Amino acid sequence: MQTKTRISSTPSELTQIKSWLKKESDETGVGFYGNWNTIQEAWEKKRCFILLHKKSVVGFLVYRTTGPVANIMVFDVKPGLRKEGFGRKLFKGFTEFLKNKGVVVIELFCSPQTSEGFWRKLYFEKLADLYDVKSKRIDMYKIIVPKLAITEKSDSAETIALWDKEQHEVSDCPPKWVWGLRFKKNSRELERPIVHPINYKWLLLWKQGNKVLHSAPIGDFVSATIEYGSFMVITSLPSQ
Ligand SMILES: CC(C)(COP(=O)(O)OP(=O)(O)OC[C@H]1O[C@@H](n2cnc3c(N)ncnc32)[C@H](O)[C@@H]1OP(=O)(O)O)[C@@H](O)C(=O)NCCC(=O)NCCS
Repeated sequence: MQTKTRISSTPSELTQIKSWLKKESDETGVGFYGNWNTIQEAWEKKRCFILLHKKSVVGFLVYRTTGPVANIMVFDVKPGLRKEGFGRKLFKGFTEFLKNKGVVVIELFCSPQTSEGFWRKLYFEKLADLYDVKSKRIDMYKIIVPKLAITEKSDSAETIALWDKEQHEVSDCPPKWVWGLRFKKNSRELERPIVHPINYKWLLLWKQGNKVLHSAPIGDFVSATIEYGSFMVITSLPSQ
């Protein structure tokens, strides 16, 4: 198949998208035509990524990034061409594009919720499967780089432990996740980054042997190496 992915660059590509969204809205009352302003603004800011098939646009997505975290805001395959593998191709091309930009994780919420099965096929995970999520939204994420694995019990000299609770709720509970840190030779850069969904109020404990280096909410973990938001991304740690 003659397919290609890239950031949309010509007004005619935007017009093609608008035309199918309007048609879908007029005929079925569903689709992303109601999000047109967001789509157009993203297109102007080069945040509209497309899949071309025989030089026509057959799928597009709108995204934004915050540091190494990308958020897919809209993802759509042209009606009549769905379930033919185009969605998978669009996502594959987008993932490669993001990896080259240093993005490590993609997040989204399923709207419509019927798309959950599609995202699961692409190995997205549901936040609600990881910890107790109060919202009814289906929030999903996919880590797109090799990451440091979680260890039940670590024999590493240095560890990071995380609770899915705030400090005052922890009492004697053990941490929910622990990472045994492994650094590159003569460096404080991790061999693999820690990438994990978080709430910034959760308790994080950083230890060297028995020495506690930090025990406070993630949001207070002041380091240039961590991203705040819905994910924690740690690539290196300062020496103590
Ligand atoms: C959801 C959507 C993007 C999927 O694109 P697509 O081109 O139809 O998907 P593909 O053909 O690449 O499918 C990839 C796999 O997902 C499966 N799949 C596709 N849509 C699915 C759905 N809604 N539920 C469950 N599985 C689905 C396919 O069967 C295929 O599985 P396989 O590889 O095992 O055969 C497309 O249907 C669409 O644009 N829907 C309307 C808008 C929408 O829901 N966007 C998502 C916003 S969060």
